[in-house]
Amino acid sequence: MTERTLDKLNRPLKDLRISVTDRCNFRCRYCMPEEIFGRDYAFLPKEKLLRYEEINRLVRIFASLGVTKIRITGGEPLLRKDLPELIRMIASIEDIKDIALTTNGVLLKNLARQLKEAGLQRINVSLDTLDSEKFTRLNSRFHRVEQVLEGIEAAAAAGLQVKVNMVVMKGINDDEIVSFARYFRDTQHILRFIEFMDVGNTNGWNMEKVVPKEEIISKIQSEMPIERVEPNYFGEVATRYRYKGTDKEFGIISSITEPFCSSCTRARLSSDGNLYTCLFASKGYPLLQLLRSGASDETIRAKIIEIWQDRTDRYSEERFQLSQEQKQKKIEMSYIGG
Ligand code: GTP
Ligand code: 5AD
Ligand code: SF4
Ligand code: SF4
Repeated sequence: MTERTLDKLNRPLKDLRISVTDRCNFRCRYCMPEEIFGRDYAFLPKEKLLRYEEINRLVRIFASLGVTKIRITGGEPLLRKDLPELIRMIASIEDIKDIALTTNGVLLKNLARQLKEAGLQRINVSLDTLDSEKFTRLNSRFHRVEQVLEGIEAAAAAGLQVKVNMVVMKGINDDEIVSFARYFRDTQHILRFIEFMDVGNTNGWNMEKVVPKEEIISKIQSEMPIERVEPNYFGEVATRYRYKGTDKEFGIISSITEPFCSSCTRARLSSDGNLYTCLFASKGYPLLQLLRSGASDETIRAKIIEIWQDRTDRYSEERFQLSQEQKQKKIEMSYIGG
């Protein structure tokens, strides 16, 4: 039977973000800088990854605790072999109402149709620049921005709802805010501008590199009239806006200047089976050992309830009060998938 599990701040557990690999074919400067994630970087060995049957079992248990929304992430999730098989398994779980995936898009062209057929409903594609040269420096030396755009079109053609995520960084791509807005206003896809966050320990974040939500809004407003739109549901991460006189919208994810921890209902599962209760956590709870030591569903379920009921995380609301020491050793974005 489904029951509501509340944490210490009265937040229910409703979403589960599942990372299926810590590897990626991109080396975005703000996530997996090449100097650190180079040839010698020790990625997880295959035997340490949760198998699809294990993920499926965990999702069933999470669903019995009130989770209805699943997001598959990475690293780059489409690098994981036979991903549509996992989607098919999760889609057959009755209480799961929303299955989405976050990807860099380059492998979508070949996979979009299979993913849709397996039961995937929506896809969020990362795209930070429309400039080929900037793309090479910021995202990948081995791919082209056109491949991402083709991936987006293939996803839409396959019937997937598409959102586009642009991480906005001062002096890097903030000159493209208006051109991105214009470009995507004329498509069916929903663009979201994301304030650059201090995830992990290697992305060189500082406040000077953040373009605050208000600045993004005023840049767009100076070119196109816009208005606020009500959230689709309680706890939606993006604040929605509409271009006046149209039904086209965009969103802003402002975890730095307007944190949304008070409505955060998300748990995160790493590809090696650790459960995290915040994107900025330093410690996870190992579920893989439990799964592989023959624990019953009831035991695993009780453990998850205990972890969630103990949860007090509100990092984004506390960010500017925490000491350097308290901020150390956060998990990396590529490990937990955002
Ligand atoms: P939708 O269900 O489509 O709204 O997905 P989403 O926006 O929650 O997921 P996506 O993977 O596209 O993430 C977009 C951005 O929001 C990324 O930069 C994520 O890191 C960030 N994000 C998602 N959830 C959280 C969260 O709980 N806390 C913070 N600080 N950022 C989050
Ligand atoms: N700040 C904000 N968003 C980030 N992403 C990756 N690193 C960061 C960061 N430091 C985005 C990716 C992807 C999503 C899961 O998170 O671009 O779209
Ligand atoms: Fe870039 Fe996403 Fe890969 Fe990180 S996981 S390097 S943000 S594509
Ligand atoms: Fe949730 Fe942590 Fe993000 Fe706050 S910072 S919204 S608690 S994941």
